[in-house]
Order: sequence, then C-alpha cells, then structure tokens
Amino acid sequence: MEQAARLIRFSKYTIALTGAGISAESGIPTFRGHQGLWERYDPMEYASIGSFIEDPEKVWKALYELDEIMQKARPNPAHFALAELEKMGYLKAIITQNVDGLHQAAGSKNVIEFHGSAKRLICLNCGRVYQREEIDTSVLVPRCKCNGLLKPDVVFFGEPIPEKAMELANQEVDACDLMLVIGTSAEVVPASILPWEAKRSGAKIIEVNLSPTNLTDEITDIFLQGPATKVLTSLLKKMTV
Ligand code: OAD
Repeated sequence: MEQAARLIRFSKYTIALTGAGISAESGIPTFRGHQGLWERYDPMEYASIGSFIEDPEKVWKALYELDEIMQKARPNPAHFALAELEKMGYLKAIITQNVDGLHQAAGSKNVIEFHGSAKRLICLNCGRVYQREEIDTSVLVPRCKCNGLLKPDVVFFGEPIPEKAMELANQEVDACDLMLVIGTSAEVVPASILPWEAKRSGAKIIEVNLSPTNLTDEITDIFLQGPATKVLTSLLKKMTV
C-alpha cells in the first residue's frame, strides 16, 4: 500500500481501468465467477446483438432484473475514492467497462464508458438516443418514434466498442505512466488489452482485485488484494497524509 501510494504520488499521469468488481459492493452482480450473471444467463443468448434482434422481448425481460438493481445502486467508497483522487489531481481519467454510471454519480469527471451506458437507449434503426427515463420499458418491446427497436446503449457481444470511447481510451493509455486496474477479470477484449498496451509503453500497473487475474503474474507491478472499497479507502488515506 505504501509503495502504491508512492507510485501514484510520483507518477505524472495516472489513469484507472475499472470493471464489475468495483460496483460489486454497490450490489451489482459481476459477470464471471460464483453467482456471476453469466452463471445464470448464457451471454450468447442474452447479451449478443444477434439474439437481441432475434428475440428482443426475451432479452428485455431478462434485462429487467439488472435494470432494477442498477436503478437502486449507489456509488460505494471505492467510486468515491477515485473521484477524490481525481479532485486531488492524482487521477486523470477512468476507463470503465461498467454501464452503471456510478463513477459519475460519485463525482468523477473524466469517465470513458468503454461499453456504453445503461442510462441510455439507442434505436437500432435510426440511431436516435434516448435517456432511460424518457422511455417506458414496462411496455415491451420499447420502440423509437421511427418504430425501430430500442436497445440499451451498451455494447452487446458482436458489437464494436463505440468509436469515440475507443479513441479516447487509446489516448489515455498512450498518455499514462501508471494504470490502476480495479475489479476486472481482464478477460474481455479489447478492454483487457489496454493494461498490456500501457505496460508496453512503459507504464506501471497497480491491480486491485479479490483474487489474481491473468494480468497479475504477467504485468502487474503491485497487486493489492482485497475488496475495492477497503483497498481504495486505505490508499486514499495514504495519499492524504
Ligand atoms: P468480471 O465479472 O469478468 O470480473 C469481475 C472481477 O472483479 C473479478 O476479477 C473479481 O475477482 C473482481 N471482484 C469482485 N468483487 C470485487 C470487489 N469487491 N473488489 C475488487 N474486486 C472484485 O467483470 P469485468 O471484468 O468487468 O461486457 O467484465 C468485463 C466485461 O465482461 C463486462 O464489461 C461485460 C462482460 O461481458 C459486456 O457486457 C460487453
């Protein structure tokens, strides 16, 4: 922890890459592992663009459960710690794979939503974007004014990463000399490649996770094992003394 705090203090450009693990303590289930979402829902059946187009009603019904959890979820101390590190000038950007908006709710400003946002819906026909609250999703299947299918504006399997997010993320990765990798299994490309790219261009990697990932023994310089809330709160404390 001491070493990690020192690294952050002396780095010129620190960014964070976050995944579902950072929101787990806000009550949002992760995807992989015990009780992960993919244990109950086959991602190819419920989170691929092909299956959505084939049977949008089925996918929308499954999304309800997650949508309800997300509407109620509030940022946890890990989200707040990152927002504070940004305010203090230590953290320049967050690239998140999460679609829950909790970093912004905690006060983080420079957040790149790599997999989109569940707070928006997008029309598959005309591309029009709606705020989640504008649409009554209890009437299935929600449709656009043009009658096109509405889909949460999140990246489904088989869809590309939004171009702007990809471009901004690459810029941040190029600029960073330290990357905090928090609560991600780092198994889904292309997000999982970002720490490798950062490392290749000379950045140090601090990883925060409950358990080691395939990055840990390969490119991680400091592994802080534990729940993100606890680890990031301690880290923030070290940064403020
Ligand atoms: P995963 O579910 O794959 O991984 C969550 C990671 O968080 C695991 O490594 C856990 O050990 C760790 N973890 C769980 N609870 C934690 C806690 N309290 N503190 C710290 N770490 C914790 O989630 P992601 O890596 O985010 O994509 O998954 C990446 C992508 O796969 C998601 O964005 C989603 C999914 O398919 C799309 O839907 C496009």
